[in-house]
Amino acid sequence: MSKAHSKALVGIIMGSDSDLSVMQGAADLLQGMGVEFEMTIVSAHRTPARLYEYAQSAQERGLKVIIAGAGGAAHLPGMVAAITPLPVVGVPIKSASSALNGEDALMSIVQMPPGVPVATVAINGAHNAGVLAAQILAVADTKLADKVRAYKSAMEQTVLDKATKMEGA
Ligand code: RP5
Repeated sequence: MSKAHSKALVGIIMGSDSDLSVMQGAADLLQGMGVEFEMTIVSAHRTPARLYEYAQSAQERGLKVIIAGAGGAAHLPGMVAAITPLPVVGVPIKSASSALNGEDALMSIVQMPPGVPVATVAINGAHNAGVLAAQILAVADTKLADKVRAYKSAMEQTVLDKATKMEGA
């Protein structure tokens, strides 16, 4: 796979390069946490053989979690989840060409049948997909768990600082 990283623990895939501006949010979060990832394009409808090969080889290549984003009739996350035993986090994307404001992708990704879950985040919620992937990995990585804890503490402090500022205004 192009741009593959030999030590990647998370695979970030998306249906098109037009999804990158959204999916970059997951990459940025993982980079900030020091989690190795790979990122590439896999289209369920336009490159079905590539989808199968990616999902089928993901675990043996060392990936632990896959983040898959797509817009429109977004079948990429669900089809990857059908093939791999790895947890799949789905990102519904509101693409420029979407007539349904990303709700088409949301419904396509979240409404999976029993036995084939996709952990679906909000429309364009790639940042949270990165957080969730880090939390999944942190179950077996205490150093990463400390980073997740620090991330949450920083978030808390930001809100408390804003509250203090508002109360003093
Ligand atoms: C989906 O169609 C992609 O995930 C993207 O969100 C949307 C538009 O793709 P492009 O026409 O920009 O390649 O499959």
